[in-house]
Amino acid sequence: MNTQAQAVEEAGNSGEGAKRLTVRNLNKSFGSVHVVKDLSLDINPGEFLVLLGPSGCGKTTALRMIAGLEETDTGSIHLGDTDVTRTLPKYRDVAMVFQSYALYPHKTVAQNIGFPLKVRGVDDAERDAAVRDAAAQVHMETLLDRFPRQLSGGQRQRVALARAIIRRPSAFLMDEPLSNLDAKLRGFMRAELKHMQHDLGVTTVYVTHDQIEAMTLAHRVAILDHGVLQQLGTPREVYNNPANLFVAGFMGSPPMNFVEGKIEGNRFRSEGIDIPLTGNTQTADATLGFRPEDAEVVAPGQGQFDGQVYTAELTGEQTLVTLRNGENTITIKMPKDFEVDIDSPVGIRFPVEQGFLFDTRSGPRLDMALAASA
Ligand SMILES: Nc1ncnc2c1ncn2[C@@H]1O[C@H](COP(=O)(O)OP(=O)(O)OP(=O)(O)O)[C@@H](O)[C@H]1O
Ligand SMILES: [Mg+2]
Repeated sequence: MNTQAQAVEEAGNSGEGAKRLTVRNLNKSFGSVHVVKDLSLDINPGEFLVLLGPSGCGKTTALRMIAGLEETDTGSIHLGDTDVTRTLPKYRDVAMVFQSYALYPHKTVAQNIGFPLKVRGVDDAERDAAVRDAAAQVHMETLLDRFPRQLSGGQRQRVALARAIIRRPSAFLMDEPLSNLDAKLRGFMRAELKHMQHDLGVTTVYVTHDQIEAMTLAHRVAILDHGVLQQLGTPREVYNNPANLFVAGFMGSPPMNFVEGKIEGNRFRSEGIDIPLTGNTQTADATLGFRPEDAEVVAPGQGQFDGQVYTAELTGEQTLVTLRNGENTITIKMPKDFEVDIDSPVGIRFPVEQGFLFDTRSGPRLDMALAASA
């Protein structure tokens, strides 16, 4: 087992029923549109895996194939040792939670939560006890007699979660379950969900387009673009070591700064920028990347390059300074007491070891480092 998987096994509190979920070379087209391309994922028992990517990249389609709600064109899905690729959804032993809570409007909270057990023919007493247990997990035990219309969005989503919990599935599959909630409730429910998943130790695949959700919830994140897996790693790995331009630009808020230029000999050059490189050298269109929190605003001539202040915004905890350098727009996070006038000339400095170089045309990270002195 590699160290990553080990870290996850230790991080994940794998419950007794938790199973490994193995997705191999999954493909799916709708007509002539190939939406999931050769997707492989090996998800450890009890792991919280987040499938992250922009709208339309194929996240929901991938999750629906794992759930059995969508047929696969090619590829296989195993839950534990069982091949479930052709198994009907109800026999897969997975529970899906949708963005729209999908509650039965004419059933009470208790009836909604208990429904999966009722279908299985579990007797009343046992079902009542299980409903109470599951409701307690999501702090809904006092609202069991209400109807969905009498609940807030957050409470409805809790009911949907409890209905998934009560089945004691081998895996949870969640499709943007928090996206209908307002920002404050979303943050709160995120923490609850993380705690709940830890307590239950159920293997979880969680789909979102929100990189903050992915960073905060995941043991590991799988980043998709146009149906292709771009990188799979812990949140720290993908943030600190992005494999390509797409991942670098997708993780982080505000996003990583990019400056397009050229590698010429052993230097990176762009308008007003000339930074030496170590490592192998080749001529290429390259993009320099550095994160807003790694850089600072200094006096003109004191940084790697100069620019002009476009705006400075105090967000409360920090000041976000936006600068222009020719065609480039750069954002830098400065302390909250930092003040600067619009249009002033400034320097931009970042520790070179925290800068990245990417191949502008094809996207991968270049195996080259910026050198410390000019
Ligand atoms: N049943 C379908 N028939 C035809 N095309 C579909 C179908 N379902 C999805 N698609 C297309 O497949 C692509 C991927 O859709 P999918 O719903 O998986 O994306 P997503 O990553 O979940 O996006 P979002 O973040 O917006 O939910 C989209 O281009 C979508 O239009
Ligand atoms: Mg979707």
